[in-house]
Amino acid sequence: MANETQKTYWNQVGGPKWVSLGGAMEARLAPVSAAVIAAAALRPGENVLDIGCGAGLTSLEAAQAVGPAGRVIGIDISAPMIETARGHARARHIENVSFRLGDAQTEHFAPAPEVLLSRFGVMFFDDPVAAFANLRAGAAPGARLACAAWAPLARNEHWRRPLELVEALLGPGAPRQPHASGPLAFDDADYVTAILTQAGWQAPRVEAMEIALHGVSLEEEAAIACFMGPSGALLDEKQASPAQRETIRAAIRAALPAYTSPAANGGVRVPAVIHMITARAA
Ligand SMILES: C[S@@+](CC[C@H](N)C(=O)[O-])C[C@H]1O[C@@H](n2cnc3c(N)ncnc32)[C@H](O)[C@@H]1O
Repeated sequence: MANETQKTYWNQVGGPKWVSLGGAMEARLAPVSAAVIAAAALRPGENVLDIGCGAGLTSLEAAQAVGPAGRVIGIDISAPMIETARGHARARHIENVSFRLGDAQTEHFAPAPEVLLSRFGVMFFDDPVAAFANLRAGAAPGARLACAAWAPLARNEHWRRPLELVEALLGPGAPRQPHASGPLAFDDADYVTAILTQAGWQAPRVEAMEIALHGVSLEEEAAIACFMGPSGALLDEKQASPAQRETIRAAIRAALPAYTSPAANGGVRVPAVIHMITARAA
């Protein structure tokens, strides 16, 4: 079976962690959804697929953008994420969206999507060429692809600095294989372009885009860095004790003002760089 490791991770670890943050991840990443939806140039009445939709907030925004004549399907490999997404759709009374538990690398979709988009849901395939070929084969002729992935760690201080702090306390993690599936798998623009080309997508483009994430508070940012991303993964890999986690959380909280700033409307402005990946189906 494809993607077994990621399936286990997102069902047993990543999904429950994400959901337990109670919306902080969603608030933080809202500017990325806006950038993806702008890059996708959604039009009323279109059929949209949200790949690795997670708790579904980007799907819900896309559903509003395509209006009642349009339709959005969100697919995700994680049951806790899909359950949360369905709850959000019900709570907001958004009816032109549905959520499906499944693997985007192998699943078939109907009706054929005219737009395929994703906010950080495409970096986890164990065979990305097969996944993007499957998505292209199921897409409507001329369909548009717009996906956000993280740019390199060196350009994302909000992940890099917490990772350094964990490494200083617990030592480095196992060496990362280049392009290994995970949050940074698509940090190399040439690699991503080659994947899309091999998978049969046309006019692939990877643009580095500076963006300000919306941190809820410095406390939430420190909690997220201990839970998710490369620093959270290293804490898990090292099986950090509660006391070690608390030491790291406090160190990240203390470091945060050096690479963030207060947001004009409250909260925290967190500079980041993403890769905006676009292409077209023939
Ligand atoms: C970083 S989260 C992003 C979630 C959501 N797009 C968001 O931005 O809030 C990555 C998501 O991709 C999902 N995912 C990973 N591999 C997948 C696959 N092969 N098929 C479908 N979803 C997958 C995970 O379960 C997880 O919910």
